[in-house]
Amino acid sequence: MARRKIIAGNWKMNMTPTEAVALIDELKPLVVNDEADVVFCVPAIDIIPAMEAAKGTNIHIGAENMYFEEKGAYTGEISPKMLVDAGVKYVIIGHSERREYFAETDETVNKKVLKAFEHGLTPIICCGESLTQREQGITIDWIRQQIKIAFLNVTADKAKAAVIAYEPIWAIGTGKTATSDQAEEVCAAIRACIGEIYDEATAEAIRIQYGGSVNGANAAELFAKPNIDGGLVGGASLKPDFGKIVNYK
Ligand code: PGA
Repeated sequence: MARRKIIAGNWKMNMTPTEAVALIDELKPLVVNDEADVVFCVPAIDIIPAMEAAKGTNIHIGAENMYFEEKGAYTGEISPKMLVDAGVKYVIIGHSERREYFAETDETVNKKVLKAFEHGLTPIICCGESLTQREQGITIDWIRQQIKIAFLNVTADKAKAAVIAYEPIWAIGTGKTATSDQAEEVCAAIRACIGEIYDEATAEAIRIQYGGSVNGANAAELFAKPNIDGGLVGGASLKPDFGKIVNYK
């Protein structure tokens, strides 16, 4: 069975609640596509107004992060239950910016992935190498380690529903996209790794996105690759260009 594409925007720390509603109103006619899941991952404070603005459209509202505890004395954090109660289905876990600026590790990513599944949320699990790692020729080893730790104690059934975003750090926000062959090579290796951890059926079912300077001009070539099931899009998700990415064909 062909995997359904999933194209997600990652708004990062952009858009006030008022701006979020205006942007959704602007983009909603442009992102209609029955053949793909379309997700806008927005700042926590934007989730509720964004949900309202996206009502009756094909847009799913997602979160950019969550904490791995149920509740309690964790000032400033957002719990999985809060996301679920707000109607969220997807949550980005372990984006490279969270790892770099907020000390997230493969271990905290694993805890968040387990917690997301416990609450019926679909994690969009990020992995990716630095430019130095690519130049050292250790990209695949590095990604395999990130994936193996992220999926520790995750059952095959749950893993099947997960989304993985392969995002080379050197391609994020730089305008420097990985070539479609580079992206495909790593996405294929990720799928093979899932096959080793679980089985062929899980590897075939899991969806793997590419992220890193995706835009309306390069999406078609990237998404045509057999192991690339869509994209995680930063900068271009805040512009009408996102409509071109969603309707890449
Ligand atoms: P970019 O960001 O599309 O602006 O490169 C991608 C991401 O960080 O998810």
